[in-house]
Amino acid sequence: MTFLSKLPRRKFDAVIVGAGGSGMRCSLQLAQAGLKVAVLSKVFPTRSHTVAAQGGIGASLGNMNEDHWLWHMFDTVKGSDYLGDQDAIEFMCREAPKVVYELEHFGMPFDRNPDGTIYQRPFGGHSANFGEKPVPRACAAADRTGHALLHTLYQRNVAARTQFFVEWMALDLVMDSAGDCVGVVALEMETGETMIFEAKSTVLATGGAGRIFDASTNAYINTGDGLGLVARAGLPLEDMEFWQFHPTGVAGAGVLITEGVRGEGGILLNCNGERFMERYAPTLKDLAPRDFVSRSMDQEIKEGRGCGPHKDHVLLKLDHLGAETIMKRLPSIREIAIKFANVDPIREPIPVVPTIHYQMGGIPTNYHGQVVAPNNGDDEAIVGGLYAIGECSCVSVHGANRLGTNSLLDLLVFGRAAGDHIVKALAHEPREYKELPADAGEATRTRLAALDARASGERTQDVANGIRKTMQAHCGVFRTGALLDEGVSQIEALAERAQNVAIADKSKVFNTARIEALELDNLVETARATIVSAAARTESRGAHARDDFPERDDAQWMKHTLWYSEGNRLTYKAVHGQPLTVEAFAPKKRTF
Ligand code: FUM
Repeated sequence: MTFLSKLPRRKFDAVIVGAGGSGMRCSLQLAQAGLKVAVLSKVFPTRSHTVAAQGGIGASLGNMNEDHWLWHMFDTVKGSDYLGDQDAIEFMCREAPKVVYELEHFGMPFDRNPDGTIYQRPFGGHSANFGEKPVPRACAAADRTGHALLHTLYQRNVAARTQFFVEWMALDLVMDSAGDCVGVVALEMETGETMIFEAKSTVLATGGAGRIFDASTNAYINTGDGLGLVARAGLPLEDMEFWQFHPTGVAGAGVLITEGVRGEGGILLNCNGERFMERYAPTLKDLAPRDFVSRSMDQEIKEGRGCGPHKDHVLLKLDHLGAETIMKRLPSIREIAIKFANVDPIREPIPVVPTIHYQMGGIPTNYHGQVVAPNNGDDEAIVGGLYAIGECSCVSVHGANRLGTNSLLDLLVFGRAAGDHIVKALAHEPREYKELPADAGEATRTRLAALDARASGERTQDVANGIRKTMQAHCGVFRTGALLDEGVSQIEALAERAQNVAIADKSKVFNTARIEALELDNLVETARATIVSAAARTESRGAHARDDFPERDDAQWMKHTLWYSEGNRLTYKAVHGQPLTVEAFAPKKRTF
């Protein structure tokens, strides 16, 4: 086959897709090592979703109370309901203090204690001495930690000469005949032009995909773009059934109210004014892990103890903290409560409900960030030239349920680790660019041409809203086989409809309708992966709670799910139960 013209190309040592915390931590490592680095982002870097992170970064600095990385590791393994890979978890918890001090030296404006050390607050599931009592481990910049983090990393990247391509959307990976990744095809959103970014290493850092749900704390840009790229390239997605509901989204609005509120002493109340978490988690109470707290809230509401005229939410009370603490430690929370719930938390409680917040699953990687996909019987076979970091990846440190503050930590630790791995790999084995396949970019061009050629068809937002409503109704806090199976059929029908989307305005300039249609392809892959994986897992573990299979079943299900788009197929692979240097934490019943 011959091709009429080739897409324009540019060459970089590394191309990073996504300019959030993980992408910019990785690019900084690469640019500081003198590599030529491109970062592509749909939005201006400091508007990436990391900016919305509020409460803090987990690290056992021990600035307020005694702490230890091994206690952090224990909490993370237990929090993951024992599905997390213990080699990666040990690596993350040991590296945590280092990456936080590095940030401090980069100029991150952390809150301070009177002695000048970084201020730390307690967060859900973080404990001292293997579950004995809560420990302050979240390193915070008031309730704007993500905002401070992104600005710090962006400034450092500019100084290190990282090249940013702002308002560029990656559309497809370019894979060669050996199955290695040699770059990405991307679209400039302003002009509609496409280009191939050839790279010795390609890093996916596209964040979460929370926009497959109706009520979500996620930004509108979180459409699972990296997951779609990987699924279309024939690679698997791991553990997609595990989605975290954050206990405190503003009722009716979905906006995040940080767990830091409970870390500072806020409490949850039902309609009787009862602090109900004392019944469900006698030791950690309101600071139990999120899966636990979300289910307890749901239970209270189901049993008629919800608040408000419809008894459909509970209350988060913080007035007892006093105006001074609220204004100093939680200023944005006050602003959010006033704007989105019409209550001033200095005087009144905030109405809250569990809201989709985080995907524990994603693109399978090892703890260097290299993408792994089973090949010829080797479960850990590495996909050459391809890395994934941050929320779009599954390394897996969060297993079936993530602890609060471990997401910002994950971004920093694995962003840096992937950067280090790329620098070392290119130093040991300096290599030329691999030749691109003759048809590089053709599949993308065909997809774009088909979209542009369709004169009439489905409206993108009708299909996207259908996906969100189905996922919300069929894949929520509590799931059943019947609900999930019906959800699978509905999502498959919506996936068919997505093939027939037509955009009204074909103009190339700032064509947001076209961008939304392309994002829909990624929402579809993410939703299919999620609901098919969830229907198959007949147990309850972490955030995956089945009413019809209420117990964890280690004999059958202590394994990671791998979903492939082609054939909507599932396979499984073993959990890494062995840490790097310490003894493994054996699975136990989770109580708090
Ligand atoms: O509650 C929060 O501030 C969210 C933190 C996190 O998801 O780690």
